[in-house]
Amino acid sequence: MAHILAIDQGTTSSRAIVFDDRMRLVATAQEEFRQIYPASGHVEHDPADIWSTVAATCREGIERAEIPAADIAAIGIANQRETVIIWDRDTGRPIHNAIVWQDRRTAELCGKLREDGHEAFITSATGLLLDPYFSATKIAWLLDNVEGARQKARDGRLAFGTVDTYLIWRLTGGKAHVTDATNAARTMLYNIHKGDWDADICELLNIPLAILPEVKDCAADFGMTRADLFGRPVPIFGVAGDQQAATVGQACFEPGMMKSTYGTGCFALLNTGDKPVRSESRMLTTLAYQLDGKRTYALEGSIFIAGAVVQWLRDGLKVIRHARETNALANAADKEQTLYMVPAFTGLGAPYWDAESRGAIFGLTRNSGPAEFARAALQSVGYQTRDLLEAMQADWGSSDSANILRVDGGMSANDWTMQFLADILGVPVDRPKVVETTALGAAWLAGMCAGLYPGQAEFAESWALERQFKPEMPEARREKLYKGWKNAVSRTLGPI
Ligand code: G3P
Repeated sequence: MAHILAIDQGTTSSRAIVFDDRMRLVATAQEEFRQIYPASGHVEHDPADIWSTVAATCREGIERAEIPAADIAAIGIANQRETVIIWDRDTGRPIHNAIVWQDRRTAELCGKLREDGHEAFITSATGLLLDPYFSATKIAWLLDNVEGARQKARDGRLAFGTVDTYLIWRLTGGKAHVTDATNAARTMLYNIHKGDWDADICELLNIPLAILPEVKDCAADFGMTRADLFGRPVPIFGVAGDQQAATVGQACFEPGMMKSTYGTGCFALLNTGDKPVRSESRMLTTLAYQLDGKRTYALEGSIFIAGAVVQWLRDGLKVIRHARETNALANAADKEQTLYMVPAFTGLGAPYWDAESRGAIFGLTRNSGPAEFARAALQSVGYQTRDLLEAMQADWGSSDSANILRVDGGMSANDWTMQFLADILGVPVDRPKVVETTALGAAWLAGMCAGLYPGQAEFAESWALERQFKPEMPEARREKLYKGWKNAVSRTLGPI
């Protein structure tokens, strides 16, 4: 029986998920890998770790599915976005560790580019803000700091890739140097209106076009794997950045549909159809997906700390031993107290983009304890999502905007948080039966391209609700609470 293998290469772990011919999840395998912090604000991965954990989890996933490798009809890839790898085309050897999306080493370069007045043209071409988050300045850093790299790049001897591109290179034994449009859109080198690399930005950063991969649709022929990996060559038919893969997996195919993925951070994407909406509220304009050469755009908001706030309760404050304890604690918290926790541990992302602010807690009394802290931590996720929703509505017009939010990711399992989210947003929050939406999105892209899975409309119909959280909070209370949050955030902005 034909199966699809989805690879979900994330920031802290690599996963392989096997789906059967009816898109049912059969088996998963997961392996964490080393995070390298060479200096403050620097985050790296060893590309060898990325590859070895992907290869090992693929083998293990297939074993757990109890199917012969020959049953894998196609592979789909979802990946951590923006992370940069540059390697030698002849030897396949990376010239440096991968520089991870979280890495801030190019903050100064971004500041200089901004001062020199380059932000407006970069934003209008790429839809992104001039920030170290994206690949472009990281590529420039590598070319400037690895000896001989600039010349080799000019001579066409180096290849750049985001993680999808590197994995495809490895899977195909160096035969394919390709990416998909959603990953390209995160490099800050890709013109999302023309659908091509932007020669002016490349020139500004002195990045030779020769190092960039060919850009394809999300469902396309990305190459055949080496025969020895799966016993025979297997086609790679689907690729998308992980947040875009989740948007696809959540079947957010209509303009106005929105998904939010709650992992360490939170990434919300609002489908804006064939309209690239220019944000006035510091959201990102990006691609949701590209199918049959047709681009579908999205507004994206990124929150740096979502699930990580629960990790902090556990590992930092040590008021809980397991994340699941927060549900009961939040329920038990004193209703007379209103605490606000602003988890700006590493600054604030959208819509504030304030790298210098730091976390704070407001409203403490003598009666505040672990339960009130836990409730405030969970609520911070809801408040931050409301910030994103408000910004997106301001950009896109509230009548067209999301009237339902589809959620996924680890923290979406927390019922208390999801109910608060619905309450503070004032819109229903839908949790699907399949919460492995990132892997499902990648698998659907590949399976659809292979002719095994249905087309877009039928796939959208197959999306099934597990539970809907309906807003229950009275309007006046919702607005009062949210006003308090805005007040708390405003007091944390800027350096302490
Ligand atoms: O933009 C970064 C994002 O793609 C990372 O996602 O799930 O690997 O943390 P994740």
